[in-house]
Amino acid sequence: MINLILFGPPGSGKGTQAARLVEKYKLVHISTGDLFRYEMGNNTPLGQQAKAYISQGELVPDEVTIGMLRNKVEAHPDAKGFIFDGFPRTIPQAEALDLLMAEEKTEIHTLLALHVPDEEIIKRITLRGETSGRSDDLDENIIRNRIDVYKSETSPVYDYYAGQDKSHSIEGLGTIDAIFDRLCAVIDAIGK
Ligand code: AP5
Ligand code: MG
Repeated sequence: MINLILFGPPGSGKGTQAARLVEKYKLVHISTGDLFRYEMGNNTPLGQQAKAYISQGELVPDEVTIGMLRNKVEAHPDAKGFIFDGFPRTIPQAEALDLLMAEEKTEIHTLLALHVPDEEIIKRITLRGETSGRSDDLDENIIRNRIDVYKSETSPVYDYYAGQDKSHSIEGLGTIDAIFDRLCAVIDAIGK
């Protein structure tokens, strides 16, 4: 079993790379952003709750996010492993994830952090905003707020897993294929 965290700022390519990693390693992909967008699309109470935060580029409160994540993990008892994309985004989320993994008699094996400069992020997300329908892709101020929230609230999660010798930095600029190869090299070196 191998459990990965795909980490990095908004627009760094987490979703793009997760789709490929899932194919290659046969893992279950859990993106909390995708889960929230599904709930918002169906106008569920959870979606309504999340919408106010997401449209401003703020984080949804931990208790809401952690509960949703736990349900999703528990729905896949036979998984060969998980790719967590966009989770954990705070230290309490990281602690909750470690606890959940321990309950499942497993652990997080590695955190892969994609590095992409702010200006490239803004370019990518603005371009995607032309077609994505995402309320948080439309306004440069909201995109910049997402980047600020990443730096202040989320980047400490990298250090948290570095403290367990699990964090790896990956250059997130270049072709999608080249970045995929960099990620696979780290995963294959773990050899689980
Ligand atoms: P979430 O959905 O996780 O969004 P995000 O982290 O802001 O990241 P994105 O999905 O925008 O980008 P990505 O890194 O997946 O990149 P992608 O592959 O799409 O979260 C959204 C919101 O939900 C949060 O702001 C928060 O409000 C809430 N939320 C979610 N999780 C939460 C949590 N745990 N706690 C609290 N709140 C939470 O690529 C981006 C674009 O670039 C695409 O158009 C792609 O085609 C393009 N691209 C990809 N790779 C390359 C490349 N190599 N070169 C050029 N372009 C590329
Ligand atoms: Mg994504």
